[in-house]
Amino acid sequence: MTTQTATSELPGAGASPLDVAELTRLAGAFFAALPGQAPLTTSHGGVSAPVNLLPGGTSLGPHANGPQLPGTIAPGANVVPTSPNSAANQVSSVPALVPHSTAPNGLPDHAAIVPPALDSRLGQLSLAVPEGHAASAPRSHEAPVSPFGAQPPAGPSSPYYFLGESSAYSAPTAAAAGSPFYFVGSQPQGFANPQQSHDARRPPFDVNAIRRDFPILQERVNGKPLVWFDNAATTQKPQSVIDRIAYFYQHENSNIHRAAHALAARATDAYEAAREKVRAFIGAGSVDEVIFVRGTTEAINLVAKTWGAANIGAGDEIIVSHLEHHANIVPWQQLAAQKGAKIRVIPVDDNGQLLLDEYRKLLNPRTKLVSVTQVSNALGTVVPVQEIVALAHAAGAKALVDGAQSVSHMRVNVQQLDADFFVFSGHKIFGPTGIGVVYGKRELLEDMPPWQGGGNMIADVTFERTLYQPAPNKFEAGTGNIADAVGLGAALDYVQRVGIENIARYEHDLLDYATHYLKPIPGVRLIGTAKDKASVLSFVLKGYSTEEVGKALNEEGIAVRTGHHCAQPILRRFGVETTVRPSLAFYNTCEEVDRFIAVIQRLSNGRR
Ligand code: ALA
Repeated sequence: MTTQTATSELPGAGASPLDVAELTRLAGAFFAALPGQAPLTTSHGGVSAPVNLLPGGTSLGPHANGPQLPGTIAPGANVVPTSPNSAANQVSSVPALVPHSTAPNGLPDHAAIVPPALDSRLGQLSLAVPEGHAASAPRSHEAPVSPFGAQPPAGPSSPYYFLGESSAYSAPTAAAAGSPFYFVGSQPQGFANPQQSHDARRPPFDVNAIRRDFPILQERVNGKPLVWFDNAATTQKPQSVIDRIAYFYQHENSNIHRAAHALAARATDAYEAAREKVRAFIGAGSVDEVIFVRGTTEAINLVAKTWGAANIGAGDEIIVSHLEHHANIVPWQQLAAQKGAKIRVIPVDDNGQLLLDEYRKLLNPRTKLVSVTQVSNALGTVVPVQEIVALAHAAGAKALVDGAQSVSHMRVNVQQLDADFFVFSGHKIFGPTGIGVVYGKRELLEDMPPWQGGGNMIADVTFERTLYQPAPNKFEAGTGNIADAVGLGAALDYVQRVGIENIARYEHDLLDYATHYLKPIPGVRLIGTAKDKASVLSFVLKGYSTEEVGKALNEEGIAVRTGHHCAQPILRRFGVETTVRPSLAFYNTCEEVDRFIAVIQRLSNGRR
């Protein structure tokens, strides 16, 4: 049997100059070219393969890196397509019905629109904060204002935002280097001061531009534009994170720390660059203090089963607070049961604020660990963790801070907090699920035994004994979640570019706006009314189960969590088993709050 070539199978192949291999090469080069750019041509008139746009920087030389790396888009700048098949991503809103904002890349937001006929999910309504709402809301300070009217400085001149980034190791982003993104400006740390919301010198927060970065916010649920108010459960992902993960699998995928080939170097570089991004984001002193795990739950379990197993014994005490998520209760209970130790609980007042005086009374020489959340997932209470850590240290105890609900809302600096351990999850900060972080002080990590054993964490193995790697590898046995660690790095880059202080201030105002309208609705009881709160509105509505309220909201496209929020002790402290829990992020708007309030008001009016 003879083998025919593809060319010879083409009709008329014999007479035609067509060359399938050449056609394939041409097509490949054409589609590999950047959108909007002509295919790259060689001097001899042919089409070249995509070139490596990146300088060197890896151990395998200049071509170890892949081509265009995503990740440095100015938030709001993705109104132009990043790939030929991303039509849905181009859509922001219908121009006839919305104010025309301008993205930081200088393009009007109706620059790329798919008519609703082409995609039924795509909008009929503005998802923006209407200026009118912001202006008319009766509140003690300014609500987040629409930025229309203030022309943001232009973003990167190329719409292809990733062209600026040379490699995953180019740690300082354009924003960090002082690029004139619309949101820059030196901001005070911490939570928003309502008085400062009046400060005309501060650049406006362009929520419309932010929203364009999150493609899922264009979804419709039950025919209505999605309102994502379940941010305490998980956050949505910006396009730059989605692109970064896709890029990893398209150009870098390999196992890490092993093998002398180019992709192993790319993947290792990308993974270790993400570790550095985490280090910088939380203000750790060294990348060796940053361990990748699956999430906050695994992080706390790691500390309990390593540091805890080695340092807590019979009669010792572990202090947690009444606010804790089950993930910061159960591992300590398990440890206490194993070791004969005790759990002590810091109580809260009727607003859900920790009682620091009671905490002081709990501390004693038997206290070995204080493990507290920085923000309550069920109530939103912000806990004064710096003071709690200082008091723990004064008593000779170590302190773990659960940052799962705080890192996306406020500036965290682990050295300033002086936390011995700080843990958080990637998916709560606009990154992927399945990736999280344990920060631990170097001296503690050095003394801790490993948790899981296997590959990656060893220096040398014989049948008689094993020598371990130092931290962090000692705690990263097996093949980790490499791509999602890289995705987490991209998420942190994104948050950095928006500015965590800008996020905090905007969310604070939005929470005030929502609280102002929710609280007076007849039958509503807010659970958790601490003075210092972050982005959570837990409540019950008289005459309705929390599930009924959740379903009514879902019918209007509004996603909230209902239930016990994995924090049964604190809900029971307030005499309830479940609550309705809208939780806000910086891409939410006053208009969305209005839609939510309208549903609760309607239910309240028709109360049984
Ligand atoms: N801890 C997450 C929540 O609060 C799952 O919803």
